[in-house]
Amino acid sequence: MEDASSRVSSLLGLLLAAHCALLLLLRLAGAAHGHGYAPAPGGGVALSSAFYDESCPSAYDVVRRVIQDARVSDPRIPASLIRLHFHDCFVNGCDGSLLLDDDLPAIQSEKHVPANDKSARGFEVVDGIKSALEEACPGIVSCADILALAAEISVELAGGPRWRVLLGRRDGTTTNIEGANNLPSPFDPLDKLQEKFRNFNLDDTDLVALQGAHTFGKVQCQFTQENCTAGQPEETLENLDQVTPNVFDNKYYGNLLHGAAQLPSDQVMLSADPVAEMTTAPIVHRFAGNQEDFFRNFAASMVKMGNISPLTRNDGEIRKFCRRINSEGY
Ligand code: HEM
Ligand SMILES: *[C@@H]1O[C@H](CO)[C@@H](O)[C@H](O)[C@H]1NC(C)=O
Repeated sequence: MEDASSRVSSLLGLLLAAHCALLLLLRLAGAAHGHGYAPAPGGGVALSSAFYDESCPSAYDVVRRVIQDARVSDPRIPASLIRLHFHDCFVNGCDGSLLLDDDLPAIQSEKHVPANDKSARGFEVVDGIKSALEEACPGIVSCADILALAAEISVELAGGPRWRVLLGRRDGTTTNIEGANNLPSPFDPLDKLQEKFRNFNLDDTDLVALQGAHTFGKVQCQFTQENCTAGQPEETLENLDQVTPNVFDNKYYGNLLHGAAQLPSDQVMLSADPVAEMTTAPIVHRFAGNQEDFFRNFAASMVKMGNISPLTRNDGEIRKFCRRINSEGY
């Protein structure tokens, strides 16, 4: 027969055990999500360069290998891949929205807006990276992070700077056509470009540095300052940097000094316009004269661009196939 005090103590013991179990469960749940999100300065969580260290340590090498393979037959691929990261981040943040194909009426692809149509490319290589990663670590690496990793690897392979890519983005489940239609245009005046960058907290130094990516890759002559003057078809490809077309270096800024930038939106940073003289022109001169300075700023600006409104923790999803959201069942 139990007395009252022993009943109280066994109840206490039970409560204590339940409490410990709860703490343990919470700790385990934390570990399961333990992809190392750190607190961000503005509250919320921040991306981290160590995000896949435990869950997919080969992520970087896998992405690098697929890009290396792809570039054997298509030397333009590194340039095309970094541009995808830019067009992803500037629309709905870096959430892989650009990669979604049409699946009407729910999903209207961003691939058909003027800035992307017959222009954005490299999607098959992204598919190749994704399937290699699904082999190595199923369901772990987001399509948004693939673009961020591919951007860094592409710059490095072309001879540019290296940087620590921040990771931990998750994939969105929507597109944003209005945002995609608002991507910077090669015919935007300088103040418009500055405004479009400032909207994402990117200043004049970021604008000048990031446009330095036009040191490699191609442009259709319809977008150039010359506008196909020789009467070629408007989609005829020319090198963006006609001095060192495939190398990531600071020659692009030298071209600007000679008025020889390909895009009107490149050359506006160094025009006689007083706004350019007061804002972007001094930065162009700096980067033209000092490649190290350009590399340092480019890397920092890429990290800033990669931080545009990422989805983290339980927001969004890790897509299985970059062209489709998971819930559609395939
Ligand atoms: C200031 C805003 C920008 C404008 C108006 C702009 C515009 C363009 C245009 C019109 C093209 C040629 C597309 C074609 O002919 O099909 C192009 C190509 C390219 N852009 Fe930009 N761009 C901007 C910023 C950036 C940024 C921030 C990056 C990357 C950090 C970037 C990287 C590239 C690359 C690498 C290519 C060549 C792509 C390839 O060969 O496939 N651009 N850009
Ligand atoms: C380029 O040239 C074509 C043909 O002359 C013209 O229709 C088009 O408006 C020009 N584009 C620009 C941006 O000047």
